[in-house]
Amino acid sequence: MTPQPPRGRFITFEGGEGAGKSTQLRLLADGLREAGLMVVTTREPGGSPGAEAIRALLVSGEVERWDGVTEALLHFAARRDHLVKTVWPALERGAWVISDRFADSTLAYQGFGHGLDPEVIANLYRVAVGHFSPDLTLVLDLPVEKGLERAGSRGGAEDRYERMGLGFHQRLRQGFLGIAASNPLRCAVIDATQTPDQVYADIMATVRARLPVP
Ligand code: TMP
Repeated sequence: MTPQPPRGRFITFEGGEGAGKSTQLRLLADGLREAGLMVVTTREPGGSPGAEAIRALLVSGEVERWDGVTEALLHFAARRDHLVKTVWPALERGAWVISDRFADSTLAYQGFGHGLDPEVIANLYRVAVGHFSPDLTLVLDLPVEKGLERAGSRGGAEDRYERMGLGFHQRLRQGFLGIAASNPLRCAVIDATQTPDQVYADIMATVRARLPVP
């Protein structure tokens, strides 16, 4: 029998709009590859062909397009497909998987943001994800106005969530900080107002402190 590679690790990036997640995700992926790890980068909603098709329904169109439960169901349908087709097979191969957003975004956006009952979200999590959870979640935190300013200057058609009001985004930020405070072993809050180099240094130090980077 050929020996199996050790299971990889699952790292997620979370935070509001314009926090610099995608830039930092790329930097971390490069850093971990240099350390000799096999790395797969991915995103939610999306990360598999089926989930990318569902993403198109979620990130464009009218703000009021979906009621809260429908929207959460769509996110969890996309998440299930992403896990089954992309994340779990990669972890089995021994890769480290880094995802731009995961289930904390549903609790923050649909729960804290839109007022969907957290119990509904916890139930959907049990059905779609089961006992699986990230090994480490990096919450990139910065003031809402700053994030929306950065996100706005990006432009593009995928702005349905960016168009939700300031109050919504403030609830989001508090939501993410609350999630991090309730899950201190899994989550770390990173100050995203720093320069990209400083943010990256914080992230790498956190990853090395918590996970077995060679
Ligand atoms: P992105 O802009 O980070 O690619 O994410 C797309 C949008 O989807 C973003 O505005 C956050 C939102 N979102 C949710 O509302 N719930 C979720 O569960 C996820 C994963 C994303």
